[in-house]
Amino acid sequence: METVQSERYANIVPMDELGTADKRLHPFPVLNELRRKSPVRYDESRACWDVFRYEDAHHILKNPAEFSSKRRLAGNENDTLLTMDPPRHSQMRALVNKAFTPRVISELEPHIASIANECLDAVIGRGSMDVVHDLAVPVPVIVIAELLGVRPQDRMLFKEWSDILVMGSEENSEASFKQLMATKQRALEELNVYLGSIVEERKKQPKEDLISLLISDEIDGEKLKDHEILGFSILLLAAGNETTTNLITNAVRYLTEAPKAQEQLREHPELIPGFFEEVLRYYPPIQAIGRVAAADCTIGGQPIKAGDQVVSWVASANRDESKFPDPDTFLIDRKPNAHLSFGFGIHFCLGAPLARLEGQIAIRAMLERMADIRFAAGTPLVPIQSPFVFGVKQYPVTFSA
Ligand code: HEM
Repeated sequence: METVQSERYANIVPMDELGTADKRLHPFPVLNELRRKSPVRYDESRACWDVFRYEDAHHILKNPAEFSSKRRLAGNENDTLLTMDPPRHSQMRALVNKAFTPRVISELEPHIASIANECLDAVIGRGSMDVVHDLAVPVPVIVIAELLGVRPQDRMLFKEWSDILVMGSEENSEASFKQLMATKQRALEELNVYLGSIVEERKKQPKEDLISLLISDEIDGEKLKDHEILGFSILLLAAGNETTTNLITNAVRYLTEAPKAQEQLREHPELIPGFFEEVLRYYPPIQAIGRVAAADCTIGGQPIKAGDQVVSWVASANRDESKFPDPDTFLIDRKPNAHLSFGFGIHFCLGAPLARLEGQIAIRAMLERMADIRFAAGTPLVPIQSPFVFGVKQYPVTFSA
């Protein structure tokens, strides 16, 4: 099979060691072994460095001058926060931060709770549900759509577009890569047209939504350009939807693997925030983060050249025994818990307060309304088709109401 030779495929093609569905459902033994055997290694077939230790991953994320974020993400040609370096990154981030502070986000709590409860109302009489489809997908999609000011009837269209933007390729072949790029390009064009129409509407008649805020705000006396507003809106979709879906689903996955934890959290709901930090560490929705070396350097004794792609394996760093005692054990009240699942440093996830809140609300609602939540055996788990994402496509459960 022809190998893809493109600057962008490290986040598109899975590494050989995680090439099978089973490995992608259970990547941790593989990653643990790679960390021990070859903590920093060059992978010819993906043309990138893989970095597995906590200390090295942390160093890379902490040093944006040495490890640039100016990479192109497949399917998102707009320059966004995620692919900017300072000083532009700092200006843009300061502007959008206002909409995502923990205080602003905490005000959404009652509304998010009513969205989660409506989702559960629809399934509670059935005694079974697919966690992904019935809860973990709609909650973040509805919340982001509302934040942006998307028309309610268009929400599911939004979900389809956001799925395509984060999709990876099953095969390491030029043909499948090109086909995927064409699909992403199409979705992106449709999204640009759609969001462009909302921007035009808000320019005439501002509302209380994020797009109106972005239109009215300024950096150094200058308004944001339309393409920057669109780029940021699309980034929120791509960065915030599937990640949060997987956080909620991964939390339920753990709760069905360790049913005693259900009882523990029901009796002690104050443990829920700490439980989520441990879910993030143990089953991270984003398992790897890409950078490009800005200058020649060494990591873990390996010579890295300017321009080389570098992939920091968060899912491995989070289980590095030199940072986390007993790393393969899930400790519901682990402290400290300095996982890298939201990244680190200047690009630390802007949506972290929102993701945490949505996750906590969704699980609290499930635990309050459902007992004895079990994985519906007999359904094979299918991993999400993206090498940087850790999650499953469906997660059917049964419960008693
Ligand atoms: C950045 C993970 C939810 C918006 C990041 C980064 C990670 C991450 C690892 C850093 C990427 C890098 O350093 O290159 C997650 C996870 C989530 C989640 C695991 C859910 C559990 C969200 C949500 C939103 C969001 C809900 C928004 C609604 C962003 C944005 C950035 C970002 C805008 C770029 C920040 C910057 O470059 O300054 N996220 N994210 N994320 N995330 Fe999240």
